[in-house]
Parts: sequence; structure tokens; C-alpha cells
Amino acid sequence: MKKKRKSNEPLSQNRNLLRWVEKMADLCQPAQIHWVDGSQAEYDQLCAQMVEQGTLTKLNEKLWPGCFYARSDASDVARVEDRTFICSQSREAAGPNNNWENPFEMRRKLRGLFTGCMAGRTMYILPFSMGPVGSPMAQLGVELTDSPYVVINMRIMARIGLPVYAEIDRGHQRVVPCLHSVGAPLRKGQKDVTWPCNKEKYIVHFPESREIWSYGSGYGGNALLGKKCFALRIASNMARDDGWMAEHMLILGVEDPQGEKTYVAAAFPSACGKTNFAMLVPPPSVQAQGWKVTTLGDDIAWIKPSADGRLHAINPEAGFFGVAPGTSKSTNPNAMATLSRNTIFTNVALTPEGGVWWEGMTETPPPHLTDWQGQPWTPAIAQATGAKAAHPNSRFTAPASQCPTIDPDWESPTGVPISAIIFGGRRATTIPLVYQAFNWSSGVYIGATMGSEMTAAAAGTIGKVRRDPMAMLPFCGYHMGDYFRHWISMQKKISETPRIFHVNWFRKDAEGKFIWPGFSDNMRILKWIVARARVRALARETPIGWMPRYEDIDWTGLDFPREKFEELQAFDRTAWRAEVMAHEELFLDLHDRLPKELIYERELLICRM
Ligand code: OXD
Ligand code: MN
Repeated sequence: MKKKRKSNEPLSQNRNLLRWVEKMADLCQPAQIHWVDGSQAEYDQLCAQMVEQGTLTKLNEKLWPGCFYARSDASDVARVEDRTFICSQSREAAGPNNNWENPFEMRRKLRGLFTGCMAGRTMYILPFSMGPVGSPMAQLGVELTDSPYVVINMRIMARIGLPVYAEIDRGHQRVVPCLHSVGAPLRKGQKDVTWPCNKEKYIVHFPESREIWSYGSGYGGNALLGKKCFALRIASNMARDDGWMAEHMLILGVEDPQGEKTYVAAAFPSACGKTNFAMLVPPPSVQAQGWKVTTLGDDIAWIKPSADGRLHAINPEAGFFGVAPGTSKSTNPNAMATLSRNTIFTNVALTPEGGVWWEGMTETPPPHLTDWQGQPWTPAIAQATGAKAAHPNSRFTAPASQCPTIDPDWESPTGVPISAIIFGGRRATTIPLVYQAFNWSSGVYIGATMGSEMTAAAAGTIGKVRRDPMAMLPFCGYHMGDYFRHWISMQKKISETPRIFHVNWFRKDAEGKFIWPGFSDNMRILKWIVARARVRALARETPIGWMPRYEDIDWTGLDFPREKFEELQAFDRTAWRAEVMAHEELFLDLHDRLPKELIYERELLICRM
């Protein structure tokens, strides 16, 4: 009979790792240690244990095979940007875009908070690879966490377990240490709650030593440390030092009727439809011509200069942590197919049949639900009180491999060549549906000055326009001025730059209605972008960049009048003057480290207007 592995036996021989685990266990004082092997059996056992504890609910196996449901504490539902810190040696290095505290002070504070913080709990040793294991573009981390919920989510979102220990033991690569605690030690005999967390939260990054310490939250980007903390905040520091880019971008492929593939990366602020765009289904009339869209990633791209002189990108993640509300068979059938099995749902609503529901999943809501806080919910209650069945930032954690449109090269260790970069935001006015930057530095200016109306993905005022350069404001782990300089400098490392575009699917008419149908029809714009990137489409010059004319867009199968298109593309000089004034505000904040190319770009833009 095969001997059952004891989960407290170390699975790595790496002396640094063993020593660090020992030190952190001394600090956090967990009741036990569990070395995560990443197997299905371990996953099943952890899920069963969490079902027993009430943290997870197993969904109806017939309707939602392999799926689980979790409900968080009502105070732990989104990333906490005001509790997120970049503790570089100097305040200047972190920039005005980050919260900074003296790293020595912060370490002292964290030592206090982490002392005994795992009492009564298990410390899981969770090795993970961001990017395919062994890829020259991948990076390794180990997360020590007292949350089994984090372990099961990380198993979907990253490559974890035995193959990663093997990489660590080869000793070729630096490993990013990530310490995470929900900050809820248990006294002897104390009954646990279903979602332990702490009012006090600290999401802390030490960029020079490449360390992450996260305390008090069990939710999303605060706790799944491979994602925003590592793959963006720490990786942006690595990328600057080593000449590559860690970006908040989806990656997709467009295949034309001849089978030629063009890869595109796109940056949109949180909850602006990135997952929908990454899984775009072309309109039937465009599909009939032989066009296809494939998906490589929906949130993060690591982009490196390659020997062919071009930028190549990988998706460092292995799953989608998507916003549930608004996702439906009509808005994103590929996401619905992806999340139909083996998925973890958090903070959506439960149906009496043991299924899940969220606002926008179906046109007519079910008559009875249990909402994300465990309360009875009916359409009548919603009408009377405005209560949402699902939290606006409720999520699904689903394996990327289940996506029907996943690109055959999504795990290519050397990535795919990027021909176009798209920036986009949620803007009711001013910003046209699509335009193309004149060149790399004007494209960097467009990305740097991007703005978007705030959404529920982060705590803050919903609807207010905030400047969100390259959609990286919450994720750039150093001074934004230096980050722009890094973008500008990337041009010198490659012989062929991707073409840069800006899109805005969200422009509204005088009645406040969206002018553009969006979703599938975004393919029409994507087609023009791909054709421009391949120097096959015409455009007209405007003060802000190149714009398609009505006849440059493929309108087959859509009756979209020329006047409406003109309204979408309208360049309003007065509104743009105000827009450029608003850019000034951002530039003032960053003035001491702003690359001069961007100052010149702004001057040129003003002159053209
Ligand atoms: C995300 C975000 O969760 O950007 O992807 O907030
Ligand atoms: Mn994101």
C-alpha cells in the first residue's frame, strides 16, 4: 500500500526556503504547517474541510459540477488601496502614486502584527510560478498563508505545488517571499468564523528585497499574492531593473480568414470589461468571413523584448478572477462556459437549487435567492431597498484552460509577439471610440494620461474620473514618472514597436445612453486596429491621432448610421482643452521625474489643437 504523505514534511530541500519557513513559523506561531503539493486530492481535501467549517458551500453537482461558493465578511470585499504600501528605501522611489512608509518602521509594525497571528491555524507553504513552470519569462514565489481559501484559489490562478518546488530546488532563480495572514488567531477552544479577517489591513511590498507581507484580508488581490502584489507591483520593479514590462493588460489573438494571427495587448482599469474583451465573440457576419478571436489572458501581461526585435508577451496567470455581475451568455458566453465547472464563486447570490446568480446573469432574476450576505432576496425586496443579490465586486475564480477560446499558444514559454497595444477607459464624454497614436512616444502619452470613471473593483467614489496611467495607478510598484521613462526607453530595446491605440466603448449621447453597442461589435474596431498594425488600413489625421473614417470599418451585419459613428468619433476642441488641462494635474504631481518626451508630447498636442 502507498504510504500517505504527511503534509508537514518539507517538500523542498532549498536551505533558504527551509530557514525562512522556520523563521516565519516562529513569528506567526501556527498550530501546524502544511507543505502544499498542489494535487487534486489535496484540493479536494481542503474544499471538504472548508465545507465542514462553513467557509465553502458545495454547489449542486448536476448544475455546477466541481464548483464551490464562498461568502466573505461584509468588510472584506475589494482591494484596499489606501492600506496598500510600497516601502522602498526612499519615499521618492515609491512616488506620489503610492502610499509609502519607512521600511524599518513598517517592518517593526508588521513584526508586531504577525507575532502569533496564525495561532490555532495551519500555515500553508504554497510554492507558485507566475508563468509556465520553467519558462524563461516565468518568476517564482512562495506564499505562506493561514487561509485554505487562498490555497484553493491560487491553485486555479497560478501554477503551484511539486513542479514549482523542483524549480526552486534547482536554485537558478530568486524566489519572492510572500507572507499572508488573515490576522485572526484562534485561542484554544475558540470557534472559528466562516470568513476570518481583521479590521486592520496592511498590504505591504518591499521592492528592493522583493518581499510581500499581507495582513488582515482574505479577499482577491489582497490575499492571492501572485496576482496584483507580485505580478504587477513587485514585477514592475523587476521589469524596470531587467528591461521588460509588467502590465495590467489582457492578451488576445486575432486570426484572419487566411489563418494569419495577430496578437494584441490591452490595458483597461479594473472592471471596464477586460475579461469580456479578452473573450470577444465576433458578430456572426464577421465570423462568417472567417475571423476568430482567441484568448491568452484577461488581466496581466509580462512583455519582453525578444531576439526577433519585437515585444513578446506571456500571461503569468493560469486562471481568471473575473467580476461576476454583468457576465452572461449574451455579454460573454466564453466566460460563462469557462466558469460552468471547477470554479470558486465569491460573494455572488445562491439559488434555492444550489446554484449561483448575479445581477445581469439573466434578464429576469430568479424569484428567491440568498444574497451575498446570507439574507433572503427577492426582486420585490430589491425594488424596495435597492439591495443587490451579488456584491458588485463578486468574483469567479476559473481555470483558463476551460475557456473555449483559449489560444493554443497561451502557455508558450517564450510568449507571443505583440503587434498592437490598446489603452481604454470608461468615459461618458470627450474620448472617441477609437484613435491611433502617431508613434511610440505619443502612444506612451496617451497611455500615461488615460482616465476612467471609478468602479466597484476598489474602494472609492464610483463614477468620478480618475487618471489611471496605463491602468497601472494601483499597481505600479514605483514612481509613475520613472515608469513612464521606462516605457519610453523600451523603444530602444526593439526594432519593431507595437502600434498604440486608444478605445472608449462607453461614450454616451445627450440622453445618457451608450452610443456604441460594444461587446461583439468591438470586433469591428479590433479589425481596424489589426489592419492598421499590419499597415493595411486607411485613417485620417486629427489633432489627437489617426482615426478611421466610416468606410474604414467593417459594418457587415450591423446597421450603424454614419451620423452615429461621427458622434462617437467627434473631436470636441473645448472638451479636449479641459481634458489636456486635467493632464496637467497629473504631470504636476509627477513633475520631478517626468520624462521630457511626455512634456514635449503635451506641447505638441496643445499646438495641434
Ligand atoms: C482585478 C482588478 O481584480 O483589477 O483584476 O481589480
Ligand atoms: Mn485587474
